[in-house]
Amino acid sequence: MNLRSSVCILGIESSCDETSASVCIDGKIYSNVIATQQIHTDFGGVVPELASRAHMQNIVPVVDKALKDANVQPADLHAIAFTQAPGLIGALLVGSSFAKSMSIALDIPIIAVQHMQAHVLSNLIEPPVPAFPFLCLTISGGHTQIVLCHSPLHMEILGETIDDAAGEAFDKTAKMLGLPYPGGPLIDKLAAEGNPKKFVFPEPQIEGLNFSFSGVKTSVLYFLQRMKKEDESFVEKNLSDICASVQFCIVSILLKKLKKATLQTGIKRICIAGGVSANKGLRSSLNNMAAENNWDIHIPSFEYCTDNAAMIAITGYYKFMENKFTELNISPSARGTW
Ligand code: KG4
Ligand code: ZN
Repeated sequence: MNLRSSVCILGIESSCDETSASVCIDGKIYSNVIATQQIHTDFGGVVPELASRAHMQNIVPVVDKALKDANVQPADLHAIAFTQAPGLIGALLVGSSFAKSMSIALDIPIIAVQHMQAHVLSNLIEPPVPAFPFLCLTISGGHTQIVLCHSPLHMEILGETIDDAAGEAFDKTAKMLGLPYPGGPLIDKLAAEGNPKKFVFPEPQIEGLNFSFSGVKTSVLYFLQRMKKEDESFVEKNLSDICASVQFCIVSILLKKLKKATLQTGIKRICIAGGVSANKGLRSSLNNMAAENNWDIHIPSFEYCTDNAAMIAITGYYKFMENKFTELNISPSARGTW
């Protein structure tokens, strides 16, 4: 490949507990290296200080491998895109400082990327890419949003959570059940063997396209306390049924709002993104709903659902094409604005 006539972007993601780097050439992903930090497993959640330190240890080998996997030299790069917000501030500082240093050394620009926008654009990584406009249900550990995407860089949030995120509902339920962090994938696995109708958890009535998950968390907590009083080994005996029933409730809340958004906007092209979009129960219910409602759905591969730098690199590519570069005095931000 003649890289001189191509646009070659390095993407760096370090917002939470994944250190990741990816190379995107002319809008196509050539590498996506992800180092997942195992250190948080026993703490029931991500410990910010430990995450920053692990990013410091991982970032050089991860970037190095991403360049090698893509068969690209640092001198071939045209820009470095990095996650600027939202996320853990110490974790973001590692990726942004690394991107700045590398850009100074190579004399190329940096491109700040908003992590949630990048999750939406993970749908543009693999063909067939959805046509615009589309709706994206973005569901991660910290966010739950329905986004109307007009073009790669023009997005509108139609609804979002007013309290906990969908991923938090999974992770907090897992913690109550004594399962390690992150709980979402484990609940997903256990739910596959359970009865989703065994226990019923109430769904909140929230206006418009907003979500709420704190009520689900509280009702699971009270339910478990009540049942454990009657039988100490209730959780062990019913683990897969509890997981299946909680998952059923969370998925139902998400998909009902998604349906409402399609009716409200008239848009039937649907994408999903973010860690929770890896959930098998959600993916299969979405497939069923798509068939019933004549939706055109796009579901990214698992590696592009959870945090990854490929989505940062591809967003960087679209920003590069519109000359949206960032000054070197940019500072990362824990909260994200669009
Ligand atoms: O997008 P992501 O990797 O990081 C954030 O930006 O937050 O999402 C992480 C979240 C965690 O809450 C994790 O438990 C959840 O995604 N998750 C899942 C599954 N895989 C990851 N939740 C349900 N089912 C899964 N298979
Ligand atoms: Zn994320």
